[in-house]
Amino acid sequence: MPDLTNRPRRLRFSPIIRDLVAEARLDAAMLVQPHFVVPGNGVSEPISAMPGISHESVDRLIATVEKDLELGIRSVLIFGVPEDSSKAFDGRAAYTDDAIVPTAVAELKKRFGADLAVITDVCLCAYTDHGHCGLIKDGRIDNDLSLPHLANMALAHAAAGADVVAPSDMMDGRVGAIRELLDESALDHVAIMSYSVKYASAYYGPFREAAHSAPSEGDRRSYQMDARNRREALVEAELDVAEGADILMVKPALAYLDVVRDLHESFPLPLAVYNVSGEFSMVKAAAERGWIDEQAIVLENWHAFRRAGADILITYHGRQALAEGWL
Ligand code: PBG
Ligand code: ZN
Repeated sequence: MPDLTNRPRRLRFSPIIRDLVAEARLDAAMLVQPHFVVPGNGVSEPISAMPGISHESVDRLIATVEKDLELGIRSVLIFGVPEDSSKAFDGRAAYTDDAIVPTAVAELKKRFGADLAVITDVCLCAYTDHGHCGLIKDGRIDNDLSLPHLANMALAHAAAGADVVAPSDMMDGRVGAIRELLDESALDHVAIMSYSVKYASAYYGPFREAAHSAPSEGDRRSYQMDARNRREALVEAELDVAEGADILMVKPALAYLDVVRDLHESFPLPLAVYNVSGEFSMVKAAAERGWIDEQAIVLENWHAFRRAGADILITYHGRQALAEGWL
């Protein structure tokens, strides 16, 4: 007989004991629901590869957020999807007075005030005619030329009332450029959630359809991180911390949990994971075919994020999870 003094199964017999000793827990307050905002009125267009997620004009967004708030979703991440005709080489439609995201933010803040945390994605790719996240000069994505445009975009969001701006472009130095411009503009209270560690990933496929932001030429490998690298994530995060980031993020989530754990152990800042469009669509597609149990899979993934060290979960499944009582 082996020595059976220690029997881990003792704590697994009853559901109440299992709940009592559970390490990773979930709570609606840690969920962030992304939204895709389009110009116009009365628009709500489902995104085919992302069941349950739609392009919405500001009026419809307000109605959706109101319902989500009742469910307990208190944080949103706003993406703008502007008209194709407004796209330009420098993405200037991202920060004009009537730009789509500042308009949405102002309306959300007018309607919900402090009941809602509004986070905005800051990136030029939905606004540039070439679909890259920065400006192009001499055939390259020019880092330093892009910084003032990204900072202007963040400023427009913050001035409209955003609580948090979230740069996702992966240019070097953008957190510092944004922090400096916000501080000069009496917006020092606005936080920065940096997409610090954003990998060049095939998991963004459905999003690019949703945001109309696929590059017309080339790919994003000259600015997003190489999936083969782990230690480089620490370099990225350390720079963001030094430049004034308030929250760090790893994206995508599932295939990068080693990196989530590394950041959790190396930096005391709150850490977000972005459970991206492709990860969502794969679960949806398999669930539609009856191949997996959607609720069980989503909770297993979310617990994995928590176990790895994530504090904030950005997920397209948030609304459904709360509406269907999964938590
Ligand atoms: C834009 C951006 C992307 C995502 C968030 N912001 C796509 C990309 O970098 O190509 C992906 C989100 C998702 O897939 O859910 N920079
Ligand atoms: Zn981008």
